Amino acid sequence: MPATTAKVIAIASQKGGSGKTTLAVHIATKAAQAGFESCVVDTDPQATAASWSDWRGDFLPVVVTSPPARLARTITSAQKNGVDFVVIDTPPHADAAAREAIKAADLVLIPTKPRAFDLAALEPVADLVTYANTPAFVVLNSVPAGATVLAGEAQEAAKDIGLKICPVQLGDRAAFHRSSAKGETASESEPDGKAAKEIDKLWKWLSKELKKIG
Ligand SMILES: Nc1ncnc2c1ncn2[C@@H]1O[C@H](COP(=O)(O)OP(=O)(O)OP(=O)(O)O)[C@@H](O)[C@H]1O
Ligand SMILES: [Mg+2]
Repeated sequence: MPATTAKVIAIASQKGGSGKTTLAVHIATKAAQAGFESCVVDTDPQATAASWSDWRGDFLPVVVTSPPARLARTITSAQKNGVDFVVIDTPPHADAAAREAIKAADLVLIPTKPRAFDLAALEPVADLVTYANTPAFVVLNSVPAGATVLAGEAQEAAKDIGLKICPVQLGDRAAFHRSSAKGETASESEPDGKAAKEIDKLWKWLSKELKKIG
């Protein structure tokens, strides 16, 4: 268990473009709307979450960048400034960064597209969460409309390597990339849309899981 009082969620997956940053900014924004002092710690040298924050301007959540090696210190210092909910965004293809994030986290979310090559890339992150003994859930992302068989197969594949599955999936929805490009979230730009509803459900589920952890 990390030595922090803030809730810390790590978003990790070695596969590029699986939805890490999208998930990170949506969850951190939901947390802010729920009354948390929430913060995204962007450990990706691409700094995509930080760019999103630049486009967003002066609205919550705060996004700070941190090299993975300084992650623990960055979280401690955020906490000293009143942050009580941290979402760590991680780079693709970077075991060390993912390891540091998983070590600092209370819970790990692993977004993946439900495609064979993407699922094959879950193994390294599965090993990391098993080693760290941190609760972790695969979040199926960009699931095409009506792809129940594909989603079912993806769930089986994740289970086979010992990963738990988040019961809420995110569909392949333009609202996710349209909103991100404006420094917003889907819930803000299209509040009545399906993407917003999925994020609502995801947040409710996540809140319950965090309560279980205590
Ligand atoms: N559910 C979704 N529906 C439609 N588009 C999505 C969805 N999730 C993510 N995207 C889009 O897919 C692209 C990649 O998403 P994102 O940047 O969140 O992935 P990432 O895992 O952070 O990538 P990287 O590994 O490069 O950091 C972005 O253009 C994003 O807007
Ligand atoms: Mg990213």
